[in-house]
Amino acid sequence: MTLLYKADPARGRVWQSLFAEHAPDIPFRQWPDLGDPAAVRYLAAWTVTPDLLAGLPNLEVLFSTGAGVDQLDLAAVPSHVQVVRMVEPGITAGMVEYATLATLALHRHLLDYRAAQAEGRWAPVRLVPAARRRVGVMGLGELGQAVLAGLRGFGFPLSGWSRSPKSLEGVACFAGPAALPAFLAACDILVCLLPLTAETRGILCRETFAHLPDGASLVNVGRGGHLVEADLLEALEGGRLSGAVLDVLGEEPAPPGHPFWRHPRILLTPHVASMTDAEGAAHAVIGAVRDHRAGRPARGLVPRGRGY
Ligand code: NAP
Ligand code: GLV
Repeated sequence: MTLLYKADPARGRVWQSLFAEHAPDIPFRQWPDLGDPAAVRYLAAWTVTPDLLAGLPNLEVLFSTGAGVDQLDLAAVPSHVQVVRMVEPGITAGMVEYATLATLALHRHLLDYRAAQAEGRWAPVRLVPAARRRVGVMGLGELGQAVLAGLRGFGFPLSGWSRSPKSLEGVACFAGPAALPAFLAACDILVCLLPLTAETRGILCRETFAHLPDGASLVNVGRGGHLVEADLLEALEGGRLSGAVLDVLGEEPAPPGHPFWRHPRILLTPHVASMTDAEGAAHAVIGAVRDHRAGRPARGLVPRGRGY
């Protein structure tokens, strides 16, 4: 009943000592020292190759070491293997901090002040009260809901959009493609916290931007594949959008010369909105293995057909 860890080795050493202390009944091995491949029932990894999977004949659960599973080729994972994504407090806390920071940066005109400082201009911009700045979050899962709960205290009118209907206190909730235009029409700041799937790839595009209020701004903390980069550039050039904070890109790191590096209306960060905390992750996986052994669905279990 071994768990094989195949991700960042330094974090792996933290997992190893936590498994030894809190779960001595779950033998822990760190890649490439996998011991008897037939004993491996659990695999924790960021990505997997078909060769790795083929060499683990008794694998029961694949744990993603991140919140997303889009980096895994789910079609290559045998259908009887459960896939569990990472749900741990460190990821959520980091995302709430970052999405709040980005929302407040856009709300309080930080891009204008960055440009003004570079030019030596003292140029105050008139304040818009939070009560008149509408913030909408695409994706009302673990992270989207936590971000909305964190934003509530600032007084922004809040809305959210998801696949299935939701009811959240203090949030106008919209669901499904038909409701997307109405949701977008009420977003002065749009935060994308969707998973990347066939339905959501390229969703941050010209058509979506056309439904936003004039001069709206964007925060993308989902995946780079959500954004059609050329459409964002066009929307910023034309003034349809006034700014963007991007933590994720289609190609990471952005190649030298990418237009986002020096764009005055884009604040770029290197995929750091949240990071899996090694300790929290090890405890989450220990809990999920225990759930699996007890026949309970693990927190973060990914329905295979749904893809997130
Ligand atoms: P989650 O709990 O699975 O929530 C996903 C949400 O998106 C759900 O509300 C879901 O709707 C909604 N959704 C999915 N497909 C949709 C569609 N076609 N139309 C409308 N709504 C749709 O995921 P999470 O834990 O919140 O994480 C979200 C994503 O954040 C991850 O997949 C990952 O890509 C990204 N992330 C980024 C970072 C970073 O550092 N930048 C860190 C962690 C995670 P239902 O509620 O109806 O299912
Ligand atoms: C990071 O992007 C994650 O999915 O955890």
